[in-house]
Amino acid sequence: MKMNNKWNAQLYDDKHEFVTKYGERLIHLLNAQAGETILDIGCGTGDLANQIAASGAHIIGIDTSEEMIQQAKAKYPNLLFHGKNVTKLEEVAKYDAIFSNAALHWVKEAKTAVGKMFQVLKPGGRLIVELGGAGNIASIVQAIKATIEEMQLEYREDQFPWYFPTPLAYHALLEQAGFTVDTIELYDRPTELDGKEGLRNWLDMFSQSLLAHLTEKENQTVYDTTEKKLAEKLYHKGKWIADYRRLRVTARK
Ligand code: BEZ
Repeated sequence: MKMNNKWNAQLYDDKHEFVTKYGERLIHLLNAQAGETILDIGCGTGDLANQIAASGAHIIGIDTSEEMIQQAKAKYPNLLFHGKNVTKLEEVAKYDAIFSNAALHWVKEAKTAVGKMFQVLKPGGRLIVELGGAGNIASIVQAIKATIEEMQLEYREDQFPWYFPTPLAYHALLEQAGFTVDTIELYDRPTELDGKEGLRNWLDMFSQSLLAHLTEKENQTVYDTTEKKLAEKLYHKGKWIADYRRLRVTARK
């Protein structure tokens, strides 16, 4: 899922396949059964939805990016995909389970999103989600901020595009909506970015809204300087390792 429609679905498939790879672990937790109806929130180009469908479940993938949805439909024409934001879901008690990997941290209206997930689940329905948690990509954010400030430009907190909750905060949000939380775990998951250009590609793809008020030339300087600042900490033996931290949740309606 994305909140910025400039995301490129081909680049996503080519350079960010780790998003899909890590999601496979969540699929085990989902334990989809034949005949179930399952919603995949932030389905991207559909690879995890396709794996879930192998169980015989009916899967419906949603994503805010039309480009991703078009690519998902082209790759998996037998599955259902819709361009939709979780905060705009209208169905009531339709799904046996909700699955979401690496998407909900793009939804800053988290309370609305959690409320909608509760609304669309059947009673007893399962919520199996993983998102960036508190401290996710902390060193990348810190390096971008320091770089912008050193350039005597403005760091715009209001353009921070992500929601990275603590377990306590997300637990409270889920309970307020009516969920029973079974497990909630915050864990470090250092994540290799693809190749020597990995950090630059990542910045180019994901930090656009944070840098939206800067010129293209300033953006390039931010990328260059951020890369230099982070090399000692995140670049080892020819590989960029981003400091991802995940919040993994299982809950029931
Ligand atoms: C994440 O999966 O944690 C993430 C991906 C892109 C930007 C920010 C966070």
